[in-house]
Amino acid sequence: MMKVSLLTVAAILQGCVDARIVGQRDSSTANSTFNVLNYVDPLIGTANGGHVFAGASLPFGMAKAVADSSVDNQGGFASDSDSISGFSHMHDSGTGGGASLGNFPIFPNPGCPDDDLNQCVYRYQDRSVGFSNATLIAQAGYFSIDLDSGIQGEITVTNHTALYRFTFPSDTTTAPMIFADLIDLPQSRSNSTAFVDDKTGRITGSGTFNPSFGIGSYNLYFCADFSGADIFDTGVFVNDRAGNEPKTVQTFSDGVNNDESYSAGAFTRFKAGTTSVIARVGVSFISVDQACSNGEKEIPDFDFDGTKQAAQNIWKEKLNVISIDATGVSTDLQTVFWSGAYRALLSPQDYTGENPLWESAEPYYDSYYCIWDSYRAIHQLITLVDPLSQSRMIRSLIDIYRHEGYLPDCRMSLCKGFTQGGSNADVLIAEAYLKNITDIDWPTAYEAVIKDAEVEPLNWAVEGRGGLTSWKDLGYIPTDDFDPYGQGPLTRSISRTVEYAYDDYCIASLAKALGKSDDYEKYIKRATNWHNMFDANTTSLGYTGFLQVKYSNGTWGYQDPQFCTPLMNFTSCYLNPDGHETYEGSTWLYTFYVPQDMASLITTLGGRDTFIDRLTYFHDSGLLYVGDEQSFLTVNLFHYGGRPGLSTKQIHTYIPSQFNTSINGIPGNDDSGAMGSFSTLSLIGLWPVHGQDVYLINPPFFREVNITHGITGKVATIRNLNFDASYADIYIQNVTRDGQVWSQNWIQHDFFEKGGVLEITTGRSESDWGTKAEDLPPSMASYDF
Ligand SMILES: *[C@@H]1O[C@H](CO)[C@@H](O)[C@H](O)[C@H]1NC(C)=O
Ligand SMILES: *[C@@H]1O[C@H](CO)[C@@H](O)[C@H](O)[C@H]1NC(C)=O
Ligand SMILES: *[C@@H]1O[C@H](CO)[C@@H](O)[C@H](O)[C@H]1NC(C)=O
Ligand SMILES: *[C@@H]1O[C@H](CO)[C@@H](O)[C@H](O)[C@H]1NC(C)=O
Ligand SMILES: *[C@@H]1O[C@H](CO)[C@@H](O)[C@H](O)[C@H]1NC(C)=O
Ligand SMILES: *[C@@H]1O[C@H](CO)[C@@H](O)[C@H](O)[C@H]1NC(C)=O
Ligand SMILES: *[C@@H]1O[C@H](CO)[C@@H](O)[C@H](O)[C@H]1NC(C)=O
Ligand SMILES: *[C@@H]1O[C@H](CO)[C@@H](O)[C@H](O)[C@H]1NC(C)=O
Ligand SMILES: *[C@@H]1O[C@H](CO)[C@@H](O)[C@H](O)[C@H]1NC(C)=O
Ligand SMILES: *[C@@H]1O[C@H](CO)[C@@H](O)[C@H](O)[C@H]1NC(C)=O
Ligand SMILES: *[C@@H]1O[C@H](CO)[C@@H](O)[C@H](O)[C@H]1NC(C)=O
Repeated sequence: MMKVSLLTVAAILQGCVDARIVGQRDSSTANSTFNVLNYVDPLIGTANGGHVFAGASLPFGMAKAVADSSVDNQGGFASDSDSISGFSHMHDSGTGGGASLGNFPIFPNPGCPDDDLNQCVYRYQDRSVGFSNATLIAQAGYFSIDLDSGIQGEITVTNHTALYRFTFPSDTTTAPMIFADLIDLPQSRSNSTAFVDDKTGRITGSGTFNPSFGIGSYNLYFCADFSGADIFDTGVFVNDRAGNEPKTVQTFSDGVNNDESYSAGAFTRFKAGTTSVIARVGVSFISVDQACSNGEKEIPDFDFDGTKQAAQNIWKEKLNVISIDATGVSTDLQTVFWSGAYRALLSPQDYTGENPLWESAEPYYDSYYCIWDSYRAIHQLITLVDPLSQSRMIRSLIDIYRHEGYLPDCRMSLCKGFTQGGSNADVLIAEAYLKNITDIDWPTAYEAVIKDAEVEPLNWAVEGRGGLTSWKDLGYIPTDDFDPYGQGPLTRSISRTVEYAYDDYCIASLAKALGKSDDYEKYIKRATNWHNMFDANTTSLGYTGFLQVKYSNGTWGYQDPQFCTPLMNFTSCYLNPDGHETYEGSTWLYTFYVPQDMASLITTLGGRDTFIDRLTYFHDSGLLYVGDEQSFLTVNLFHYGGRPGLSTKQIHTYIPSQFNTSINGIPGNDDSGAMGSFSTLSLIGLWPVHGQDVYLINPPFFREVNITHGITGKVATIRNLNFDASYADIYIQNVTRDGQVWSQNWIQHDFFEKGGVLEITTGRSESDWGTKAEDLPPSMASYDF
């Protein structure tokens, strides 16, 4: 999640295979025609600030089209809104900051009163029209909405092209109009131009816009073609006036006149009696020509139903690598499962062939929005279900490093996004190596992570790390850091310290794997730096020992460990100049963030029993907000204290109570699918520890889950013997892997790569399975219990 205050907002403004059958064996209906898309509900998380993108997209597609709400439109459409301001072609899903993209919306109306152009409403601020909730349809690859103007808008997409079918009311006597506005959702435009071709009705245009959570600007181009109706006339509009001449219009910003929120564009009208128009909108970051050719190549025939069918088949095929035996499991929980997987496959977006910034044969993905959010669950789920895409994404990260000098931590719309903590692409790269992600240029990847660790950039607000001199000399980021080497927000000293320590641990793992032992020694030492900010004397709510504010002279300061929990000043730790020493969370939370060395953390906190007691209290007391990504791992940390059953129990307290099928069915904004990935991975039961080749074992919420590896084709089966669909018998009694006793409470990625069967027997209470020191997950130090 990224949330920003008004202050920062100001700064920011600058081949068809059907899914396998076993999936649905509802006790009620034996149905042999399982369609996974019946369990994908794109409206989950579209209300109450979830900001999920509800519209039509292909997996990782650039075109993401939907009807845009007039308010709360970060992801375009919000279910808890009342009106629609247009239909636009590109979005980001689940952002916590401002609205993203939404450029060049098209808007249909049934015609101007008396066919008088100046009686139509064009302005963004005035034109919104209500809609009917009752007839709203959202599916993977398809969206349909009935507007109060009597128009039905249907939407589907290909990779770079949005396709709309507008059905006009049959009693319309005026000439139906579709206009394209040169605005974007954040209203960030600085220059733009539109042109309409009188003969064909084609509207083309371009504009310069700002990214929604980053610096710089980007140019975007579109090309709208219409089919299915005869053209009545064409022209342009500016604000609330329109005319048939000229055929082109331009806007610009001069720094004095603010034109960002000013509507201008071009229209095409169709002869009265037109009942339906197909609008095809190609988009491109390269040129108008490429926007047009994208549309022409991808949807030559304007076939709406065929395009929709193709999009839906692509989704079925994508999700088909997972198969579940859902006997006894509610339709709702199945829907949470598949919808979460679907949302994890929306971003990052594949802009290969659309990158104007450099020439390269490598893939280019964008909308890493942000890695701080996605490195904890999204990329782990992508690695499981689509390792080829994960490879392409890692390659694109490395190519960004090649051409821009640093790996990104956040990136959208071709621009550098704001870094929230560490340089977390390091974690993804190390994990990709450990999980055998193929086709990576490891020498360059290694060079990139070393640069993060060693060379501070001038603007570490958007790449790399800040405070590197202190990091190397003192072993922590002092709260009063003196840093003349680069600039960035001088906050989050505690959370940056623990994230940098973990980033360095991941670099150490990679160094070791690549045989670079000197580097390994150097970074594994830095991985212990979290100790330097641990104050054994700070107490809170009866617990002693927390990370604490620390100055460069070694003196401790004070931030209440409860600060920035739901119990105290919850919203005080955002990315603001007046943010505090922990980012979007408390020291209660960050004190648990030592995934590299849980054994030593447990000892430091007073031993196993104290650790388990504190972690239980953390979850049960209301101190933890599960709607932000740093919370994910804490749900499973009981495994490290030798109580894997408590992780399982904790998962069941959050799912389904906080992850369900309602429009507000996720606890925080989705951040490109993070909440969805958390719930889907939790329902599978094997929790991936980011940056490591470790999955913590819990029983799945299903009798059986199969995952087919995308490269080896091998099937990993996780089977729940003694499965209890009422979830009373959730505690693991014992486990076998391929028939052999498996006593450790974790497993490695080779299980997925080579396939096999993990059989879990559950019972009503905790057992001694997975509790002994030798059964616990890897840690730098050894467990002293
Ligand atoms: C089986 O499922 C299909 C698609 O999910 C549905 O259209 C059909 O009505 C179902 N049949 C029965 C007997 O439930
Ligand atoms: C649609 O329903 C949601 C709640 O379910 C409500 O918040 C919203 O206002 C409704 N929108 C319209 C246009 O009725
Ligand atoms: C869309 O792009 C992906 C690459 O991200 C490619 O594999 C796929 O074939 C494309 N789909 C279509 C329909 O062109
Ligand atoms: C205006 O837009 C064009 C592309 O349409 C772009 O090349 C140019 O750099 C932009 N100018 C400014 C000042 O943003
Ligand atoms: C999982 O795969 C095995 C064969 O590898 C098959 O027998 C079983 O039915 C599958 N289970 C599910 C849930 O698809
Ligand atoms: C904790 O406080 C005691 C007494 O005030 C002091 O002697 C000790 O050095 C402190 N320990 C740390 C780690 O600051
Ligand atoms: C250490 O630095 C802090 C912050 O500048 C200051 O408040 C404190 O008095 C200093 N302590 C000592 C012992 O100099
Ligand atoms: C914390 O919350 C209290 C009570 O709402 C408020 O008075 C105080 O200013 C807040 N502190 C910070 C640092 O935001
Ligand atoms: C669904 O999830 C939301 C968000 O976490 C939560 O507020 C709501 O209470 C849940 N609804 C149900 C019925 O559990
Ligand atoms: C696993 O536990 C169940 C129930 O306690 C028991 O019946 C079974 O024999 C055990 N299997 C193994 C391999 O230990
Ligand atoms: C990675 O591949 C190597 C060689 O093919 C194999 O030995 C190893 O087990 C694989 N690792 C994982 C995590 O699958």
